[in-house]
Amino acid sequence: MLAREFGSLVPGNALKWKALRSDRGVWTFDVPDQMVEFAEQNGMRVKGHTLAWSKESSYPNWFLMLTRAEQLVAIRDHIQAVVGRYAGRITAWDVWNEAMANDGSGLLGGVSEDDIADAFRWAREADPDVVLLYNDYKIAGSGRKSDDVFAMLQRLVAIGAPVDGVGFQMHANLADAPPSATEIAANMARYEGLGLNVTISEMDVRIADLAGTTDERLEAQANYYRDVVGVCLAAPNCLGVTFWGFTDRYSWIDARHGAADPLLFDENLAATPAYFGVDRKSVV
Ligand code: XIL
Repeated sequence: MLAREFGSLVPGNALKWKALRSDRGVWTFDVPDQMVEFAEQNGMRVKGHTLAWSKESSYPNWFLMLTRAEQLVAIRDHIQAVVGRYAGRITAWDVWNEAMANDGSGLLGGVSEDDIADAFRWAREADPDVVLLYNDYKIAGSGRKSDDVFAMLQRLVAIGAPVDGVGFQMHANLADAPPSATEIAANMARYEGLGLNVTISEMDVRIADLAGTTDERLEAQANYYRDVVGVCLAAPNCLGVTFWGFTDRYSWIDARHGAADPLLFDENLAATPAYFGVDRKSVV
């Protein structure tokens, strides 16, 4: 189904620090290697997720024991090794994930913009051709965090950091006023003005808390998927849409929130109305 329905694959966890390097000095590449091979055999592109984070919980314990200076060296080594290993095979990387606070208080976890710029430079050195992205949530529409990330990327571009674009995660809850298509389009346009690409990088759409019948909820979900994907299709700088999983059976949202049914295929791998709402040209 993956090979038939999708043009691109993102390992959801297998390229994260905790999966690749749970023990110091040990690298566990078998799962991502298999995924990259699967993608190549099926003519799919692969995006890597993710080289660095700001959240401590995203790193293995041994990394957290290092000093800040040692951590930066470890991040440099990590980027060189992982981007280098998949150079020419992984076509885009989330370089830094979720660095910005939600409440306007700036970068999280003692990370500086210089650290983030360095990470992009190291990734560029390891693969001159790969698309390098900053990825975050609550930044697809308007609002404080969206503006903070935009301002940061503006500064990174100004100093010549090799940033190619930004990923809007797009974990949406229809009962919680997700960003409108108009807002997302305006945000994509301001990034275009900056010379940056955008992607919808982790889309899923929760409908469990929405009023109405099941059919009505599924229809609202299909409309939202159609609208957001349509915005990407219409934006000259939108590289594509990634769904955060393809079946509700294994969705992280379902695992956290019960039967939230966020994806294009249901628990039994049957296509939902959302699947038919999405213009498949955009599924890359
Ligand atoms: C999620 C995975 O889907 C889960 O399997 C895992 O338990 C937690 O992480 N933002 C991100 C992704 O950038 O890495 C997260 O993925 C979802 C939120």
